[in-house]
Amino acid sequence: MGKFTVLNHPLIQHKLTIMRDKNTGTKDFREIASEIAELMVYEITRDLPLKSVEIETPMGKTVQKELAGKKLAVVPILRAGLGMVDGVLRLVPAAKVGHIGMYRDEETLEPHEYFLKLPPDIEQRDVFVVDPMLATGGSAKMAIEALKKHGAKNMRLVVLVAAPEGVKAIEEAFPDVDVYAAALDDHLNDDGYIVPGLGDAGDRLFGTK
Ligand code: URA
Repeated sequence: MGKFTVLNHPLIQHKLTIMRDKNTGTKDFREIASEIAELMVYEITRDLPLKSVEIETPMGKTVQKELAGKKLAVVPILRAGLGMVDGVLRLVPAAKVGHIGMYRDEETLEPHEYFLKLPPDIEQRDVFVVDPMLATGGSAKMAIEALKKHGAKNMRLVVLVAAPEGVKAIEEAFPDVDVYAAALDDHLNDDGYIVPGLGDAGDRLFGTK
């Protein structure tokens, strides 16, 4: 079974409260989404392997640690996932960025893939799939399936707000994918929105409503 982890660092909780507030405007919403993604990646990368290197400080030779060179990729689920990419790249600037485009049929709530572009060596990379909202899990499931089909082996799903329904869907479909969220919310409403949630993440990130 994949692990589900809520990263409830006080800074993350505080920032998420600002994002949830309906009076928070596009500029702040976008900046804070990126900041939370950065803080989440800081936590999630705690297990990155290190290796020993010899360097010379002004005081002399010493053996210290550096990253063992594990390759990372971040794959936002378009379009709302874009709001988390900058935050990830601030901490992992060498990560490659893939894109997967999914849209949700407003009536059936079913996800459809319309775009996919991945780094060619995706199978060698640890992949962070990012999307602010894990609602029914439909888009994330489809995105993870598409990535698997293209060779991705080692994936983690990183979201800001998760609904229990979405977490269950990913756990059942992909025992090998760990899920990280900044918060686990109460439920989905009849329109597929997370409650209390933060509304439509894409619209609030890009000011389209
Ligand atoms: N997508 C969103 O942007 N918000 C939700 O609450 C659910 C899905």
